[in-house]
Amino acid sequence: MCGIIGYAGHRPAVPVVVEGLRRLEYRGYDSAGIGFCRSGELHIVRAEGKLGNLEEKLAKAGPAVTVTCAMGHTRWATHGAPEERNAHPHASNDGSLAIVHNGIIENYQEIKADLAARGYVFRSDTDTEVLVNLIAERRKSEPDLLHAFAAALREAHGAYAVCLFDRDEPDTMYAARMAAPLIFGVGTGENFVASDIPAFLPYTRKVVFLEDGEIVRADANSYAVMRTSDLTPVTHEVKTIQWDMQAAQKGGYRHFMLKEIFEQPRVITDALTGRLSAARDAVLLKELDALPVPKRLHIVACGTSYHSGLWGRHLLENWAHVPVQIEIASEFRYRESLMLGPDDMVLVISQSGETADTLAALRIAAEHGAQTLGLCNVVGSSIAREASAVLYTQAGPEISVASTKAMTSQMLMLTLMAIYWGQRAGVLSAEGRRERIAQLLALPAQLEAQLPSMHEQARMLSRKYAQARNFFYLGRGHCYPLALEGALKLKELSYIHAEGYAAGEMKHGPIALVDQTFPTFAIALDDALFPKIRSNILEVQARQGHVIALTNPGMDIAVDNVWRIPAISGPLSAFLVLPCLQLFSYETADYLGKDVDQPRNLAKSVTVE
Ligand code: M6R
Repeated sequence: MCGIIGYAGHRPAVPVVVEGLRRLEYRGYDSAGIGFCRSGELHIVRAEGKLGNLEEKLAKAGPAVTVTCAMGHTRWATHGAPEERNAHPHASNDGSLAIVHNGIIENYQEIKADLAARGYVFRSDTDTEVLVNLIAERRKSEPDLLHAFAAALREAHGAYAVCLFDRDEPDTMYAARMAAPLIFGVGTGENFVASDIPAFLPYTRKVVFLEDGEIVRADANSYAVMRTSDLTPVTHEVKTIQWDMQAAQKGGYRHFMLKEIFEQPRVITDALTGRLSAARDAVLLKELDALPVPKRLHIVACGTSYHSGLWGRHLLENWAHVPVQIEIASEFRYRESLMLGPDDMVLVISQSGETADTLAALRIAAEHGAQTLGLCNVVGSSIAREASAVLYTQAGPEISVASTKAMTSQMLMLTLMAIYWGQRAGVLSAEGRRERIAQLLALPAQLEAQLPSMHEQARMLSRKYAQARNFFYLGRGHCYPLALEGALKLKELSYIHAEGYAAGEMKHGPIALVDQTFPTFAIALDDALFPKIRSNILEVQARQGHVIALTNPGMDIAVDNVWRIPAISGPLSAFLVLPCLQLFSYETADYLGKDVDQPRNLAKSVTVE
């Protein structure tokens, strides 16, 4: 996720901004840059890679001690490769304006085409460069920059947090937000805007939480917040932050994992951004337009990404009628009898895009002449570079070793792929698409509303079951991959042995293990398979096994602990189930005093076999 800081004050601004960017490093980035005005000119310094590279360039560019207003950006690529030319700030063609941006302008291609027709040229692949030129264009007809900025933002659809500089007002910064974080820091004789509080926490604890659809104009001694729609003034309470720096980086959460679990509603929103038609009846995945609807799809992945694929198979087969095979990458890569050809498409799923087995599987698939498709979170990662096409999950950096929000974003993308291929193959009606898209659009608010009570329930249950040494997780149909994921999360975080099973498989052996000390976590939702899993639960109870059942209101089930979540019809209920499983594992591990964000023996990115 990109990091932004803007500063207007009395201190040397460049070091303030560079240090602010350093305190945003935890968000992850692939390039960085800063901008400021000096001697009537905009200065922009950008570098690929870590902040050290930027500092070296700044040193060469000469001292900027007199500058007391500057902005900076760390970029987590979403449009265009992680290269210096795509790094921010971006300047307008006439060199008067510079901007840094976090988010995605959905309609930037249309705006770009219009600006290009008017003679604008673009040096980067970014939507950001389009936005700054749109502001410059609107300035020609609006009374001042503020009006031009607002007019351009009203035309830009999507998500943005931006900071804008004008060479004619070297001590002033403009900023705005829509569906991306931006916080204003109120200092004494200095003001800040930033994506997150740590960027300016050493200087001020007084903040204004800007809302979507707001613009702010600020200099060292004053600031004004206005509505983007009509520039009417808005008054916000100035709040005082009590967190220390570490807590601030985790957004006030105890661990990155908890923060990332709570980010999931936003992750769903972000994954949908730019991928739905205006009428909300079609999915737009332009990355796949040049590829055929697969005749046979092979999904290959490891760990949590494999579980996403296993879950996605249900949707791809049922909604798009695409036949799917799925395999763990470390098995796929050593199969002697791989039968792949040009009619096969191999979809590799990887959060990091660097997992050695998954990357090897991708290369083998390419050698066999199959079409290859990557589903990755990290832009420019090896898998993203080597696959013939790539879809990005846009979940932002995942810091906790245990994967949470990445899985949600992968499932969301697999859902979009199922709708997209269903529409292209003509097997999913417009009505069917509309219904599913409406369900998707409702998810963020539903999940947001549920997360606090889910967390509380998970906390309560974790206290009750933390002493167990073993756990079964049971599910059927699309809940079976979720059972596997629940078990993986519990073992990797709390070191409690846990096994995920297809509930119908229990009686073929595993049930021999069940006794009073071996609890079961069953996912028993209100669907066609409910009577089946209820029978499996009864079998467990007949062996004195204790049971937690995650179910929906009104379902008739008698177990030790019934955990009810709102019903969502069909497989999209997974988006409410998954956070429950994550929170239960998180709370159990935390209660047991385990290192939640960095469990023993595990690495975030498994780049060796
Ligand atoms: O980066 P990838 O998605 O390729 O990683 C795959 C697995 O290593 C990863 O999901 C792992 O299982 C996590 N520890 C799960 O929390």
